This record gives sequence, C-alpha cells and structure tokens, in this order.
Amino acid sequence: MLERLESLRTGALERVAAATDAAGLRAVEKEYLGKEGGVAEILGAIPGLPVEERRDAGRGANELKVELLEAIAARKAALEGELVAELRDAGGFDPTMPPAAPERGSLHPITQVRREVEGIFTSMGYEILDGPEVELDYYNFQALNIPLDHPSREAQDTFYCDEDHTLVMRTQTSPVQIRAMERMTPPFRMIVPGRVFRNEEQDATHEHTFHQVEGLVVGENIQVGHLTWTLRRFLNELFGRELEVRLRPGYFPFVEPGFELDVRCPFCEEGCRVCSKTTWIEFCGCGMVHPHVLAAGFEGREDVDPGALTGFAFGFGLDRLVMMRFGIDDIRNLMGGDLRFLEQFPC
Ligand code: FA5
Repeated sequence: MLERLESLRTGALERVAAATDAAGLRAVEKEYLGKEGGVAEILGAIPGLPVEERRDAGRGANELKVELLEAIAARKAALEGELVAELRDAGGFDPTMPPAAPERGSLHPITQVRREVEGIFTSMGYEILDGPEVELDYYNFQALNIPLDHPSREAQDTFYCDEDHTLVMRTQTSPVQIRAMERMTPPFRMIVPGRVFRNEEQDATHEHTFHQVEGLVVGENIQVGHLTWTLRRFLNELFGRELEVRLRPGYFPFVEPGFELDVRCPFCEEGCRVCSKTTWIEFCGCGMVHPHVLAAGFEGREDVDPGALTGFAFGFGLDRLVMMRFGIDDIRNLMGGDLRFLEQFPC
C-alpha cells in the first residue's frame, strides 16, 4: 500500500508541475483528491488491510492529500504570476493606472428630506423623538380620544398584530404625543419623524407603509396663532420663499378645534399639475390638543396640571413632501428598492 501511495504521489506532483492553467489544475485535483480520486480509493481500501498496516496507510493518504493541496495552490499562484508578467511584458498592463472608482451609495430621498425637516425644527428649538412601530392600541387610539368603538378607526385601516387587537402596527405617529407627555415636562416642543402602516390599496399617492412627521407643542397659553406661525415658518424655510397658509376645518378626534392646513403652491402662480390647478396644496392635519388627550398623557403626573396647559399638534406625510420636492409622480417608487430610480437622487 505504501508503494502505491508513493507512485500516486510522484504521478500527481508531475501532473501538477505540468499543468499550464487553472482548468488543468482543477482536473488534477479532481483526479487525485475528488470523491472517486486516487486518495479516496486508498482510504476506502484501508479497512481491508491487515491491522498493522492500516495506521501507516491512513496517515500516508492524509499526508499526501495535504501535500497535493499545497502543491496545487503553489502552482496556481505561480501560473497567475506568469500571466501577469506576460501581460506586463506585452504592454497590456499599466501599473500606474488608477483603480476603478469605488461605487458610492447615497442617502435615500426620504432620508434627505427628513434630515432637512429635522434641521428646520431643531433650529426652532424642537426635540426629535422616536417611538415604536409596533404599538399598543392604547397609544395609537384610546389615549388619543379614539375609544374601541369609534368609527374613525376605520378611516385608518389597521394591521392588528394579535387576536385581542391590543397590538397594532402604528397607523400614525400621533401615539408618540402620549409617550412624550408621559415623560417630558412642559413646556416642550417636539417632532416625531417615523414609519407608519395602513392596510390600504396602493396607488400613485397611497402606500401601505409610509412616513409621517408628527409635531407637538405643550405649554401655557399656546394658541392657534402659534400653530399657523410655526407651520408657515417651516414651509417658508423648506421652500425658500414666503408662502401663504390657510386653515380649513378638519376632524381628528385628538384635536379640538381640528384643521386641515393648506399651503400656497410653491411651484406656480396660476395653477399647475402639483396643485391640481388650485394653487393650494393640502399639507397636513393639525389642531389644538384635545383636553382628553392632555388628561390621558399626563395622567398620574403630580408635577403637571393638564388643566392649566394647552398645546397644538400637527402631522404631515413625508413621502408626499418628498414627491413634491423631487417631482416624483408615483409614491410606489420610493420604497420599491429599484436602484435605477434611487440613483437619480444622489447626495
Ligand atoms: C393623521 O394621520 C393624523 N395623525 C395627523 C394629525 C396629527 C392630525 C396631529 C392632527 C394632529 P391623516 O390620516 O390625514 O392624519 O394622515 C396625515 C398625512 O399622512 C396625510 O396628509 C398624507 O400626507 C399622509 N398619508 C395618509 N395616508 C397615506 C398613504 N396611504 N400613503 C402615503 N401618505 C399618506
């Protein structure tokens, strides 16, 4: 058996030395080290050998395996070196050429606009808060003055996470209003950029997963004038020009009075595609925080008297703002993950 091993070894090393390319080396490897190769054959024959020969035969076969693998790797490296030298000598290799530029990623358009929004609000003294995407029904609805049987739950088709309907994929960023009241001490102002989920049919302006920015200010003597001033100031900064805003009545159970705020179209004077020829763009829902919400949020706080406080809140869709900003006509592009789309917004 040891003789057989030795002749296998000599033959294999000769074949390795004679190989002229990677394919040749792979063939040698298969022939000697493959499942049905020479070394496997020897290993398979060991159980049939006299006991005293088995150990040496096994060790010899394993050593041969390691030696062959090393010889193949060394020959491969040598062949590659020869190839490089050949290319260089033939003038096809220029070691001074710069390497290909690395491919750089860029920020998603939603992230770009979110950061801009955050910058404007932080410059006005707002804190940026975060909240869970899987939320208790209590925070998403009940504490926001939306009891279990309230019809407005149907307006935000909810993904429920459990049979008891105690956990939901949050349908809005408003639950963070309550979470903020639970741990912050008035006066405070904060925004919450975040992802929300609704069981909705998708179309060019509706996604089931989209982004909102919530805003909440709580303090003494906060009034509607503060709300409109803040949103106008924000929109002026964002679009870089003075823009009118207007309030229309709007219904959200957690604000009273509630409004829809429209902004004068920043792209035209007389009506265009973005504003559907009306010169106004619906921007967000907003209003004065409902006393029930203040009571729920500050419940059990001995240091806060919710009855002495007022506040305003607003919530706008970030995706639609991004669409406006970059002239994107279908919201489904934003989270579609198609790089050909995303590469159009480098930053
Ligand atoms: C709300 O979600 C309220 N929480 C907003 C609010 C906050 C009102 C605080 C008062 C006080 P609404 O359902 O209208 O409201 O959604 C707010 C914004 O989210 C809309 O103006 C729109 O820009 C965006 N939005 C709503 N549904 C979708 C959707 N399916 N796809 C993309 N954006 C959407």
